[in-house]
Amino acid sequence: MKKLIEKLEKEKILTKEEFAFLIENRNEEIAEFLFEKARKIRETHYGKDVYIRGLIEFTNYCKNDCLYCGIRRSNKTCERYRLTKEDILLCCEEGYGLGFRTFVLQGGEDNHYSDDYMCEIISEIKRKYPDCAITLSIGEKSKESYQKFFDAGADRYLLRHETADFSHYAKLHPENLSAENRQRCLWDLKEIGYQVGTGFMVGSPYQTAENLAEDMLFIHKLQPHMVGIGPFIPHHATPFRDEKSGTLELTLFMLGLLRLMLPTALLPSTTALGTIHPEGREKGLLAGANVVMPNLSPVTVRKKYLLYDNKICTGDESAQCRVCLEKRVASTGYKIVVSAGHHLSFDNH
Ligand code: 5AD
Ligand code: FES
Repeated sequence: MKKLIEKLEKEKILTKEEFAFLIENRNEEIAEFLFEKARKIRETHYGKDVYIRGLIEFTNYCKNDCLYCGIRRSNKTCERYRLTKEDILLCCEEGYGLGFRTFVLQGGEDNHYSDDYMCEIISEIKRKYPDCAITLSIGEKSKESYQKFFDAGADRYLLRHETADFSHYAKLHPENLSAENRQRCLWDLKEIGYQVGTGFMVGSPYQTAENLAEDMLFIHKLQPHMVGIGPFIPHHATPFRDEKSGTLELTLFMLGLLRLMLPTALLPSTTALGTIHPEGREKGLLAGANVVMPNLSPVTVRKKYLLYDNKICTGDESAQCRVCLEKRVASTGYKIVVSAGHHLSFDNH
């Protein structure tokens, strides 16, 4: 197995069978071997720096009904909210003071926010904070819409492909959603010129080692700038309420593989990882991740943006999260930097 890890490090790709073999037969020793290489590679490119992104969850209305997601349309127990442009700008103001230079606008697929309104929000943030990057995470749209947001000043777009395997995708989503359209969106975003982030859940229902191997191959083909992965965690008001969570251990292993395959990628150590283990995010950084994305949403809405159960940081002020993270990151030997934190292929000024 060490040979396969060395091959991945050198050639930046394995066959589907090789990935699946590694994933299925991994053990603690091989994981340590992998993480050590992952840390070395991330330090070659990014030193000890950890980039932070301020996450603004601006709407939990969603027209979709993904079976795993706590804000799915059918969840009638979810108390819905929307932030106005003014609310969002207040989050940015607070975030800027706390050293954030990237704002991530994330929400359900909510048509209340027209393209024009989104563009207004984007250009206003850019006007006030020209040194900041804007990341959008608002789901599947037409290429024309993506182009408008880009022209208004959006720099990056996050859209996890969730699972690359078409039939697995169909088991996690209602019939009107397809892996094909999701992937089409990602190619469109890349073509327009966004820094693009994809990703998947680890341990989602019905997932096999082959599925994860396919995720790796899809990511290799797409060559995204960012890859967000986290364990699947059940939400009590979804059809997957009784399914098992993904594990910390497998998520870390996948992070390590991703770092070897995409040496310069921006890999967040996600909130979901921090939710399944108290030191999950620290462990993620030590497995190859180099980004953390604390919450900047107003405390009044935080408990309403629950994609899964037991989400961390829902009662804390943004400033508290910032201090908490500073300490957590420092405990790993890495350090948070005040920077837009672009991908290396983009200008970092
Ligand atoms: N557990 C873990 N992650 C989830 N997401 C949605 N629901 C869950 C869940 N129950 C992830 C999806 C989505 C991202 C915003 O959150 O991968 O793309
Ligand atoms: Fe909102 Fe899936 S339920 S995107």
